[in-house]
Amino acid sequence: MSYNIAIDGPAGAGKSTIAKKVAKEKGFIYVDTGAMYRAMALYMLEKNVDLADTVAIAKMCENADISIKYEDGVQCVYLNGTNVNDKIRTPDVSAAASKTSVVPEVRVKLVQLQQELAAKENVVMDGRDICTKVLPNADVKVFLTASVAVRAKRRYDELCAKGTECDLKEIEKEIAERDHRDMTRTESPLVQAEDATLVDSSAMTIDEVAEKIMSLCK
Ligand code: DC
Repeated sequence: MSYNIAIDGPAGAGKSTIAKKVAKEKGFIYVDTGAMYRAMALYMLEKNVDLADTVAIAKMCENADISIKYEDGVQCVYLNGTNVNDKIRTPDVSAAASKTSVVPEVRVKLVQLQQELAAKENVVMDGRDICTKVLPNADVKVFLTASVAVRAKRRYDELCAKGTECDLKEIEKEIAERDHRDMTRTESPLVQAEDATLVDSSAMTIDEVAEKIMSLCK
């Protein structure tokens, strides 16, 4: 039986940083499910699918073959045979992923891939519906969050460090909008599972959060 750690939470709460750190410490595989939804969104953008047309998205998603490989310990997302890691972190793909991920057919396909991975390997998996839907029997379940202001500031600092020009208020607005979409969608909305431990990282360091999750594994 594999050991599964599930982490859900809104965009910018630090899920991937924490999940990667915990995975490294435990010698587990880190599964970034958001990257799979992003790859699917990229496919829809490349095929010029109208993102308001859920019927078209449901049909087109049958043709998107998404798979995950690990190269030097890094998760690589493949879309129809091509590594798309470098293409899925743009603001356009972020916004598109939030829209295409509401389509049930997209979710069914990607949830199956995630469940297969977790059944085979010890994983730390992060996303929006991991505790509630993908791995309801995970050994450890965490809902990781932080205030909108703190998450926006973290994103702003990240972009500034890369030399990207950006506006803090604009980022705050985008995060609030994305939260709203992710939390109010009918299909697998972002909610804290009843048996998940709430961790608010607003005033915590990365090490403190990782420490907290490691302690839940004991
Ligand atoms: O975590 P992220 O920002 O990379 O996620 C991109 C989008 O994918 C986000 O808007 C919500 C969606 N998503 C989802 O619906 N379910 C998941 N398990 C992971 C991400």
